[in-house]
Amino acid sequence: MGTEKDTRTNYFNIFNDKKPIVVRRCSLEDLEGVIEVNEKELPEDYPYFFYKSILDNYPESFQVACNSNGKIIGYIMWRVERAPAIHSLKLMNQGHLVSIAVLKSYRRLGIAATLLSNSMKKLKKYKIDDFVLEVRVSNYLAINLYKKFNFTTHNIKEKYYRDGENAYYMTLKA
Ligand code: ACO
Ligand code: ZN
Repeated sequence: MGTEKDTRTNYFNIFNDKKPIVVRRCSLEDLEGVIEVNEKELPEDYPYFFYKSILDNYPESFQVACNSNGKIIGYIMWRVERAPAIHSLKLMNQGHLVSIAVLKSYRRLGIAATLLSNSMKKLKKYKIDDFVLEVRVSNYLAINLYKKFNFTTHNIKEKYYRDGENAYYMTLKA
């Protein structure tokens, strides 16, 4: 079990060419960098207040990855929803993956996997029963990542994205 300090900062190191990459909790000062990564890497953009409200409400599972200069190179954010369970009508707490992205030049180093496993552990604090997410059916990189974490496709959400693309709705029991 970690100390109080560990739970707040939560440092992880991934060694990329001997330069440490740190995965830690997001702070208010990090939001600008998070938004920059999102705008570079994903077509779904959100207004500042959206990120801010995720940070205010679910700070534990909002994680960022920083390079050795402290620049934000990746992030993950979740929200928690009270919703019917995947296989019954009973109301459960769902951890809903809002967004994850890693800058192209830092891909395939295990950063997304670290962001995911780290934040999923933190989400347990919110007494999660299921993890859920949507992903573009064409996004095989992300689909592979989720499969690696044992997410399975529950169903397809037709025309889920503004451009008309379908989403896989993927779920995992916590
Ligand atoms: N080809 C095949 N599988 C891949 C690839 C690839 N190029 N990249 C990642 N994966 C899968 C693999 O299963 C990999 O495990 P492995 O290396 O043991 O085979 C696993 O993902 C973990 O790889 P990481 O190195 O941790 O992933 P990375 O840090 O490169 O980030 C991510 C993956 C986040 C999907 C990245 O490609 C990205 O930022 N893409 C653009 C943004 C995006 O699509 N985000 C997801 C949208 S859906 C949502 O946010 C709910
Ligand atoms: Zn969603």
